[in-house]
Amino acid sequence: MLTKVLPADAAAIAKAAAILRGGGLVAFPTETVYGLGANALVERAVAGIFAAKGRPSNNPLIVHVADVAEAAQLSSAWPASAKQLADAFWPGPLTLVVPASPRIPSIVTAGGSAVALRVPAHMVAQSLLRFCGLPLAAPSANRSSSISPTRAEHVLSSLEGRIPMILDGGPTPGGLESTVLDLTVSPPALLRPGLVTPSQIEAVIGPISRQASTVGMLKSPGMLARHYAPRTPLECVAGDGCRAVQALVNQGLRVGWLPMAEQYEQLDVANGVVLAMPLDPSAYAAQLYAALHTLDVSGVDRIVVTSPPMGDEWLAVHDRLRRASTIL
Ligand code: TXA
Ligand code: MG
Repeated sequence: MLTKVLPADAAAIAKAAAILRGGGLVAFPTETVYGLGANALVERAVAGIFAAKGRPSNNPLIVHVADVAEAAQLSSAWPASAKQLADAFWPGPLTLVVPASPRIPSIVTAGGSAVALRVPAHMVAQSLLRFCGLPLAAPSANRSSSISPTRAEHVLSSLEGRIPMILDGGPTPGGLESTVLDLTVSPPALLRPGLVTPSQIEAVIGPISRQASTVGMLKSPGMLARHYAPRTPLECVAGDGCRAVQALVNQGLRVGWLPMAEQYEQLDVANGVVLAMPLDPSAYAAQLYAALHTLDVSGVDRIVVTSPPMGDEWLAVHDRLRRASTIL
């Protein structure tokens, strides 16, 4: 299959909508990462996503909708907390897990009784949802368990030949996947940290459980430890990282290093690659996956990441770095 990459203008969005209405797959940008969309109401269409990604069928999918009214229609109960959170954060990078309407095929929920819903903020995602008039099941547009794509070229290098179309909307602004919050348990449980922080959520609905339970893990296999990983072995180190990098260089290894900007000594990383990362958490999140993609294709032997600061705004970054690490 030929994979077309089209700039996401009105004509391309119309073509993409036609593919989706015909049960096909389209990759499109959201404010977090690129998604691989299919009609969420048709089992065969959704099966195409699992096939293209090589995704295990026990991992449920997020359904993207144009607005909160459509989200409420796809759930069998729309709790007060969902209404409050939707008012506060939608459109945006927060996914809410609620009881599923019987209209949702079980392939979407991996056989469970809950569905994950989100209203994306990206203009291309919004236009596509409105133009096709369908809810779109959309995981990140990459082969299963590799790093999520934040640019059209990342999607292409992972899924070329497996999908008919990629809408190119440039780099995604957020850079990390949405926060996933389970509203079917009390208190609500954070299943995946993301760009909306626990404190922001708690300011709206009160205390949530921040530690995903084992039940939560099985419920949300995206929580399984090694998940968002580059192919190159990656190690996240405390301090400035210089010693770890120097030790690997001394062994004759080519090192890809992600130090914190303005905090690192210039080392002579012979034949290596150094990409200084921003000190601001949102800017860091926006660049992390692109940096890991760059290091992965640069042919370095090892990746060293200087651990960023702790704190609520860094939670999602630390979560993804832990999952990307070879040494857990
Ligand atoms: O930012 C994002 O969320 C991106 C963009 C494309 O929207 N999507 C994304 O999808 O990251 P994916 O499939 O890579 O991750 C979905 C996460 C997984 O951890 C999955 O286990 C969890 O959401 N999830 C989906 N449906 C669920 C459900 N019904 N119950 C519990 N967890 C669910
Ligand atoms: Mg993913």
